[in-house]
Amino acid sequence: MRTDTPVTIHRQDYAPPAFLVDRVGLEFRLDPAATEVRARLALRRNPAAAADAPLRLDGDGLALQEARMDGTVLPPERLVFGADGSLTIADPPASGLLETLVRIAPEANTSLMGLYTSGGNFYTQCEAEGFRRITFFPDRPDVMSRYTVTIHADRLRCPVLLSNGNLVEQGGEGATHWVRWEDPHPKPSYLFALVAGDLVSVSDRFTTRSGREVALHIWVRRGDESRCGHAMDSLKRSMAWDEEVFGLEYDLDVFNIAAVSDFNMGAMENKGLNVFNTKYVLASPESATDGDWQGIETVVAHEYFHNWTGNRVTCRDWFQLSLKEGLTVFRDQEFSADMGSRAVKRIRDVRGLRAAQFPEDAGPMAHPVRPDSYIEIDNFYTPTVYQKGAEVVRLIHTRIGAAAFRRGMDLYIARNDNQAVTIEDFVRAMQDASGIDLSSFMGWYDQAGTPEIAAEDRYDPAARRYTLTLRQQTPPTRGQADKRPVPIPVAMGLLGPDGREQPTRLASENAAQSGTRTLLLEAAEQSFVFEDVPAPPVPSLLRGFSAPVRLRGVPRDRLRFLAVHDTDPFVRWESGQQYAASVMLEMVAAQQRGEALGFDAALAEAVANTLAAADADPAFAAEALVLPGEGFLADQMEIADPVAIHLVRRHLRAEIGRRCGPALRATYDALADHGPYRIDGASIGRRALRNACLAYLTAAGDTALAKAQFDAATNMTDSLAALALLADGDGPAREAALASFHARWRGDDLVLDKWFAIQAMAARPDAIAQVRALQAHPDFDLKNPNRARSLIASFAAGNPSQFHDLSGEGYRFLADAVIALDPVNGSIAARLVGPLGQWRRQSAARGALMRRELQRVLDTPDLSKGTFEKASKALL
Ligand code: TRP
Ligand code: ZN
Repeated sequence: MRTDTPVTIHRQDYAPPAFLVDRVGLEFRLDPAATEVRARLALRRNPAAAADAPLRLDGDGLALQEARMDGTVLPPERLVFGADGSLTIADPPASGLLETLVRIAPEANTSLMGLYTSGGNFYTQCEAEGFRRITFFPDRPDVMSRYTVTIHADRLRCPVLLSNGNLVEQGGEGATHWVRWEDPHPKPSYLFALVAGDLVSVSDRFTTRSGREVALHIWVRRGDESRCGHAMDSLKRSMAWDEEVFGLEYDLDVFNIAAVSDFNMGAMENKGLNVFNTKYVLASPESATDGDWQGIETVVAHEYFHNWTGNRVTCRDWFQLSLKEGLTVFRDQEFSADMGSRAVKRIRDVRGLRAAQFPEDAGPMAHPVRPDSYIEIDNFYTPTVYQKGAEVVRLIHTRIGAAAFRRGMDLYIARNDNQAVTIEDFVRAMQDASGIDLSSFMGWYDQAGTPEIAAEDRYDPAARRYTLTLRQQTPPTRGQADKRPVPIPVAMGLLGPDGREQPTRLASENAAQSGTRTLLLEAAEQSFVFEDVPAPPVPSLLRGFSAPVRLRGVPRDRLRFLAVHDTDPFVRWESGQQYAASVMLEMVAAQQRGEALGFDAALAEAVANTLAAADADPAFAAEALVLPGEGFLADQMEIADPVAIHLVRRHLRAEIGRRCGPALRATYDALADHGPYRIDGASIGRRALRNACLAYLTAAGDTALAKAQFDAATNMTDSLAALALLADGDGPAREAALASFHARWRGDDLVLDKWFAIQAMAARPDAIAQVRALQAHPDFDLKNPNRARSLIASFAAGNPSQFHDLSGEGYRFLADAVIALDPVNGSIAARLVGPLGQWRRQSAARGALMRRELQRVLDTPDLSKGTFEKASKALL
């Protein structure tokens, strides 16, 4: 057990920094075991802070060698070290030059925060609070400084020395050399970066709209150069898109991306020097799936877009994290929608939101998009801050329209450039640019929980009047018992009995409108009256998923009708999914009562219809064919039953595979790819549809087809789709496929991650024994976050029927992994706790076992504060 209780930070306690740092000079002497960091800080009292506020510098694990103020050595009595690693300087002058020298050990740094080594090279990660592991500094985003960085290193071991901004000088003789980088833009410490080592670059150029020539470099290990093309192409398209759509240009002469295989998250937007997980840079057709290609495009764009939304305009404090993350996710979603199929992109994003954010919002870690408090900020890089945050930006976009939103962005940037600001500043810019009062939208930032809406309607044939009543309600979450109504834009239309879209006229309007319109539900209950409605219509609600809410209680006959007729592709897809979900939940109940599982012929009919119309849009058809996931179904139940859900889904897949066998096979055969491998939206869509067919055919018992596809595959998408299906089954085909895949890819980290993940997610009765055995595999490495996630998180989050095995062994496996990982990498360990927090939504027996494991985690000596926060909140 921890002997202290970690401090909780509250949003309401914000106070401006006591001192500002106008300029920072950093000088590194790189050495894996003992790196020296000399820092020169030009400090001055912040006029906006109390005149006697102490000069406190954050630090974490730093060994101070020397400290001087304006050239004079500071005596020990003026240096006060805090238990948290900080350094306070007694009797500070109103302004001065503070110089410190510290020593750190990058090769011993397994947390991957601060300066660390990977494969013999040096990398940094400073967001959110990693800079304090490099030097003493007011490590908070509202202290913005201009940086000059000098790096000395061994010429042979570190031929490449990178930092933010522009390279201004270099030199050195003999074994060591040095370079100096200067970043002209003031920035918070979390955007500092340094990369050094034996790296090679793939280079290109981009000319901005106003004629700036930008050198683009992607830095990778020798041998990886041939797999950078897609990342580079994505970068250039992102740069062009941000100019065209938002009028935002790049603002330095060089843009560097460095790829590293030991990395805590996806990527990091450091000014002028993005650092990426190799997973989001390297791709070749043989080794990367179509999903990987799309992930690279999205993440490259996301980090690039941060240059304006995050870097030029940054966050005042970490409670405002969604100011940059929600907005930047919204921007990368729009970019990807413009690059491919907007409808399919929206479906995927909503699927992701429901798979991760909805459960979070209904569980013990539920928090508002702008949280009120935290113990460890690392724990708040969540689906709520990112995905729900993006949905809230989208709500505002929907409410005020694209043109006003663009004016709002211009205003937001003009007003706040080079400043650290709050979510209010963003909403105010949107409000001022649109002239629409957005004050009630703050409810979306400050209330946790997913609002639920329900519709009721009435048709009066004599008056030809249709009344639609919408109600909303947000369930209570911890610390927020009573919720206010929030403004919910409901994009909608009315379909006539013939399935045709009808013009709509509200009672308050003079003329009818055609197509989709947006109602604004602001109160707990509101009625909308439509006139001149010739026949009882079917309402199509929440088109394009116009708000992150749960729409409850749409009757099945309407779902079927909408799935076929609606003009909005999202609602067509959604209605099919909701129909299937409602059938499946009924079957789960039957399974629990011990009754035989029947079959709803309408599901086979829907599959047949989808296949018949698939030519028009294969990617959409693929989305429509996939049954609602196990997690989505569990999230619909008060008390989940992961085993019953799994059985029902498997049963349905097999039944559909049998009943639609010939049509599925015909589609599968027709989509065989004969030409050269291509990665474009159409080709990706065809592969997705073909693999969706393969999944049903395999579920119906035909494993020969999957085996044949696996043996013949020339691209990773087809190979992996087949391998996943084989790995789910039994017998020699499974073992042979896994062995040959491993033999072929043993030298490729990113592909081996897939090999681990596929086995961890195979819903076989021996899954727990398998993951335990894989943990002892020579290729397993707990220290590498990608590898740790590929086995542990894939199992706990991606294999619910086995994770929730009634023996409790799945829970024990996860807790063991968290306890082993915590001292190595506390951020990753804390992230793994999540699935154990869902105990309230499990049976009493499972819940007791889950709580026992959470308690065991909490009882571990010296637990990191992040893991403490997750495990203790999970138990509440
Ligand atoms: N800001 C980064 C992004 O949005 C994510 C990030 C935050 C991160 N903290 C991190 C990445 C720590 C790596 C490690 O893309
Ligand atoms: Zn981001």
